[in-house]
This record gives sequence, C-alpha cells and structure tokens, in this order.
Amino acid sequence: MTVARAATDPSRVYLMCPPEHFGVEYVINPWMDPQQPVDAELALKQWQCLRETLTGLGHEVHVLPPRPGLPDMVYAANGAFTVDGTAYGARFAHPQRAAEAGAHRDFYQDLGWRYVRPTETNEGEGDFAYLPTAYGGTILAGYGFRTDPDAHRRVQETLGRPVVSLRLVDPLFYHLDTALAVLDDENVAYYPAAFSPASQRVLRQLFPDALLASRADALAFGLNLVSDGRHVVLNDAATAMTAKLAAAGYQPVPVEFTELHKGGGSVKCCVAELRG
Ligand code: ARG
Repeated sequence: MTVARAATDPSRVYLMCPPEHFGVEYVINPWMDPQQPVDAELALKQWQCLRETLTGLGHEVHVLPPRPGLPDMVYAANGAFTVDGTAYGARFAHPQRAAEAGAHRDFYQDLGWRYVRPTETNEGEGDFAYLPTAYGGTILAGYGFRTDPDAHRRVQETLGRPVVSLRLVDPLFYHLDTALAVLDDENVAYYPAAFSPASQRVLRQLFPDALLASRADALAFGLNLVSDGRHVVLNDAATAMTAKLAAAGYQPVPVEFTELHKGGGSVKCCVAELRG
C-alpha cells in the first residue's frame, strides 16, 4: 500500500482530558490493579507534560472538562471517532465508563460538529484508526474485546470510508490502539500476535512495509503512540520501539508516563484526534 513515506501536514488538532479524577477503582482490563498505588499529582504532571509536548510540536490541544466519578475519563481517545468533521460517538462496553460518552457528545455538539449517536458498542479511537490517503481514506477497526463488529459496518455507512475489521485475540491488547499505531498517512506499526492469524494476513497484505513491533514493545505500550507523520510521541519505557522508529526515519519524542499506564493505557489512549 505504501511505496515512500507520505508527506504529512504537521499541524493536528487533539482532544485531551486532565486526570483530575483519575484512579484505578475497578478492573476492566488486565493491567488494572486497584491495590497498586497511583501518584495522582505525578499523573497530572505527566499528563501536562504530554499536552505541552504536543503543543510544542505545533499542534492544537482542546481540553475536555473532567467529570467526578469517571476515573477513566483521562483516556479521551475512547470517547468518539472523527473523520471529515463528523464524530461517531462512543458507547462503552463497561457500565463504569458509560457516562463518558455524553461528555464527549456535549463537546462535539458545542463545537458545531456533526455528532452521530452510536447504536452499537464501540470505544472510539481505542478501536478505530484512520489512514487519510490509503485508498482515499481507510479505517482500521478492532474487535474481540470492546467494540462490537456491527459498529464497524455502521461506521463505514456513516463515514463513507472502507472499514477493515481486525480481530484482537490477546486480552493484554484489548483495544486496537494497544496493538497497532498509524505512523503517517499510509503506514502503520503493529504487533502481529495481538491479531488472529487471518487478520495478520490482512495486515501483511495491506501494509507490506509496516514496522513490526515485538511483544516487549507492545507490553511497554510502545504502540500506543501519537504520530503527526514525523514526530512520534510515545511512552519513554518503550526504548526498543523508540530505536525502531528512529531507524525507520521518524523522530521519536519519549515522554514519562508511569501513572496512567496503571489504568491500562498510555499516550495514545489520552489523545483523541479531531479530524475536521
Ligand atoms: N482503563 C481504561 C479501560 O480499560 C483504559 C482505556 C485505555 N484506552 C485506550 N484507548 N486504549 O477502558
């Protein structure tokens, strides 16, 4: 699908939500352990540093006001999936996060975006990724743990882009964005064993030049990254992934992200892209 590194507009618009009410208060993924202490002050500091890193790279960051009682709201990527000024809303798999969807809906409606209410369970950009130039815009969609595959076909009908369904098989990599990352307009990085054999074949066919991550890279949340096509912001614990990205010609920008890791997420989980 890709022959040369795509030219990418370096300026992006993102949405983030500060971890003011963050905590590991329940268990909905294998990373969460309510017994493990979280340093709330450090979580906020690391989040602010991520936000400043993104604005420092020339991107715009909108801030979603956090709501009490929603300790996972910091993972803003899960609230919707946007393409061409349309936000396809989330419908969370777990009741503990259900109310986050309304906060995201209010945000898009206040901004005057077209907001589409979801009818099937889906966790926004956690399970949907977008490649702007591959076949005129291609959506990659994960299922197996959170998003209902029926939501994939609904997203295709709503957003008018081909949706490629990929089955996730390892509970540690329960969202697509823990196992696959869009690096630029056309290429991706992924950890093959997080996908079913058939989905691995689909990925090989679509992305023969993909950057392949190891299990260790994925476990360090090295795929849960935010790329503007050139700079790749990722968890600083993912050192081997950082080296692979640099060798592939990208500019890695590692950030410390220990606290939000405890909720089972990292950099990408905390950043939704607004594609106007
Ligand atoms: N504790 C959250 C959950 O399990 C983490 C969400 C991570 N978000 C992501 N986009 N992978 O739902």
